[in-house]
Amino acid sequence: MENRLKIIYQDYLHKIQQTKDLKSLDEIFLALFGKNGEITLATKEFPKLSKEELKVVAPLLAKVKAELEEAVTKRREEIKEEGYQKLSEEKLDLTPVELPREKGHLHVITTFEEETVGLFQKLGFQRYDAPQIDSDDFNFSLLNIPEDHPARDLWDTLYLDSERFGIEPGKLLLRTHTSNSQVRIMREHQPPFRMMVLGRCFRYENLDARHEHTFEQFEIVYVDKGLSMANLQYLSEHLLKGIFGEEMKVRMTPGYYPFVEPGAGVDGLCIFCKGKGCKVCGGVGWLELAGAGMIHPTVLKNGGIDPKIYSGIAWGFGPFRMLMLKYGINDIRTFLSGNLKELLKYEGESK
Ligand code: PHE
Repeated sequence: MENRLKIIYQDYLHKIQQTKDLKSLDEIFLALFGKNGEITLATKEFPKLSKEELKVVAPLLAKVKAELEEAVTKRREEIKEEGYQKLSEEKLDLTPVELPREKGHLHVITTFEEETVGLFQKLGFQRYDAPQIDSDDFNFSLLNIPEDHPARDLWDTLYLDSERFGIEPGKLLLRTHTSNSQVRIMREHQPPFRMMVLGRCFRYENLDARHEHTFEQFEIVYVDKGLSMANLQYLSEHLLKGIFGEEMKVRMTPGYYPFVEPGAGVDGLCIFCKGKGCKVCGGVGWLELAGAGMIHPTVLKNGGIDPKIYSGIAWGFGPFRMLMLKYGINDIRTFLSGNLKELLKYEGESK
């Protein structure tokens, strides 16, 4: 028995010191002290031994047991320590992984607006913002479009429930054009001034590929001494050549807007047929792109400007319409409506 214990001791001490990981160390521990472990089994044989033998073997076993237990504990600590060491020596690669991703870009409306604003900034025009919810006065009456005047039919207007805000019925609306800025600009600025207005407008439209209830307008309001239709022609060319290129040709045709006199439609040479006449321009060779004119004396007066001293140019167009031509977009609803297919179902149902 004495011998056996010595062999166990030698054997296992060696094994313990050789272990490299905690799992094998646990196995060794079980092989010694588990239910059928060497030490457990040896203890179980004690009753078979004589008193003399026991006197030697019992203390020896206690010693072997204690030392092997201690060896296991010590080795366990060492293995843990080695593990930490290894971890801290290992270089952790923290370089971010470059995942493939698609690059986004600005919406065509944004790009277009930035370009247009840039074109007029160069000529000294300043941005001006007018409200989208406005009074009937700024949107119509002060623009020489009195109540009940048939010219109001030019704009299908969305009226708000103004009584809820303590305002006379029919006085509050969603602006139908950026021209609602004209009289405001005049009242807030001393001439001469060069202003540009860009923003959302709203109309009660029967939705289809060319009509949307919400759309953008860009407008120029320019007041100075001695302005004429020649300046208007210049500004039209400046814009349309800036957008469509130098080869673009521009002409004006008579047009009616109550707040300008004379009024004009600004046409650009059809970019598809270059003037020959095609489906897009309806065989005319020209496309009407903007409305414009010399600001009506009544409107100047409403803005507190003396029409005998100053004259004004107003000029507005719809960026969506221009973009459709520029990029060949054939449905205006593409710009703002998320689900075109869904919308098509309702085509022709409104009004
Ligand atoms: N406000 C007009 C419209 O929306 C366009 C326009 C602007 C016409 C300025 C003349 C001068 O139809």
